[in-house]
Amino acid sequence: MIGRYKAPRGAQDILPEDQPYWDFVRDAAARLSKTFVYEAIETPVFEKASLFTRGVGEVTDIVQKEMYIFNDRGGLELALRPEGTAPVCRAYLEHGMHNLPQPVRLWYWTPIFRYDRPQAGRYRQHHQFGAEAIGEAASAVDAEVIELLWRLYEELGLTNLTLQLNSIGDSKCRPQYLEILRDYYRDKLDNVCLDCRARFDRSPLRLLDCKQERCQPIIAGAPPITDYLCEDCAAHFTELKALLEEADIPFTLNPRLVRGLDYYTRTVFEVTPPDEGAQSTIGGGGRYDGLIELLGGRPTPGVGFATGIERIILNLKRQNVDMPERDRPQVFVAVQTPAAQVPAFRLASELRRAGIFVIASTGARSLKAQMRQADALGAAYVAILGESELADSTATLRQLSSGAQETVPITNVAARVRQGR
Ligand code: HAM
Repeated sequence: MIGRYKAPRGAQDILPEDQPYWDFVRDAAARLSKTFVYEAIETPVFEKASLFTRGVGEVTDIVQKEMYIFNDRGGLELALRPEGTAPVCRAYLEHGMHNLPQPVRLWYWTPIFRYDRPQAGRYRQHHQFGAEAIGEAASAVDAEVIELLWRLYEELGLTNLTLQLNSIGDSKCRPQYLEILRDYYRDKLDNVCLDCRARFDRSPLRLLDCKQERCQPIIAGAPPITDYLCEDCAAHFTELKALLEEADIPFTLNPRLVRGLDYYTRTVFEVTPPDEGAQSTIGGGGRYDGLIELLGGRPTPGVGFATGIERIILNLKRQNVDMPERDRPQVFVAVQTPAAQVPAFRLASELRRAGIFVIASTGARSLKAQMRQADALGAAYVAILGESELADSTATLRQLSSGAQETVPITNVAARVRQGR
């Protein structure tokens, strides 16, 4: 049975059988956020498109190729959220959060929309858990958000992950580095891909991010940005590395690591699983000290990360991490005679009010069919109401795993089920 419609390309249903993974990740994310005293924030699914054009950057792939952009019926140009940082910064400004103790620590769990080419681990609607700490420039905050991300993966039981770390400088030192990078590329432009030729003029830092085979040797020989950091950026990076070591968070320095969004300054990082292709990054982030000002606020530093939930779950499955079981009924209430329908409904209702997971038989099926259904649903007990049970206010309670059966007063069913657990 397929019907007439399928989910749109690149968007997925999250079915009940996958929900234990989602619960597992969401619970860990919420719990860790509490431990780090980050508070939850939710922003609208759509925003003015210019928030992202300005915030994420006009010449980024996200804005140029991937944004779901549309005019509403009033002619306002909106975009489905292609990332979570610019909306959180917008909310920080809109609600005067600069008046709160700084940094303001926020986290979110949210759907993200990107018109990407769908493949394993890459979707047009995906979900992110992200955290942002806004209002403090010190490297201790960079270390804190990286630690939050790293502890999440640890707590989930993911292993063999690599944390790649770099600093891409700030508005003081980066322009000079970009000139050095251009000088290096200038006589190699005949050998690079077409995209890189365009990047050379428009966003030279992204030359280092090219995935084309022919560009790799050139990238490998490029001058590392960390050799050209100004004194302040270099000190900030040195402090950050020391703090990460202090927290036993292993990292790999990657001076070629640049990210796909334009707002980053200084710290950038990505977490990758073992032996994977370019699309496999499961989390990333960095510092964005210029973003709030770009959105019309006073200069305000910020740092954060986001991690893709679908990619986390893909890795949990690949690494065979055990999941908690799906919820099963503790009791299936079966009826042996039509006269028991209402009492069965009442018993189910009472058991649920006592906090027991219950499914009551519906419709007219034979007791045998009801037993089969209880078994298929994974019920622990079946409580059978027939004529004799109705007559003396009891239920026949059958434990499906052992087949053991006993008659208990109807008022004792809840207690008996609890004992039997
Ligand atoms: P991002 O690297 O663009 O960063 O996305 C974060 C994570 O979202 C990625 O590491 C990946 O796991 C997941 N992801 C991205 N695109 C897709 C996709 N098409 N399908 C499935 N998963 C995907 C950001 O969005 C920044 N806002 C992170 C940040 C927060 N920086 C500072 N604060």
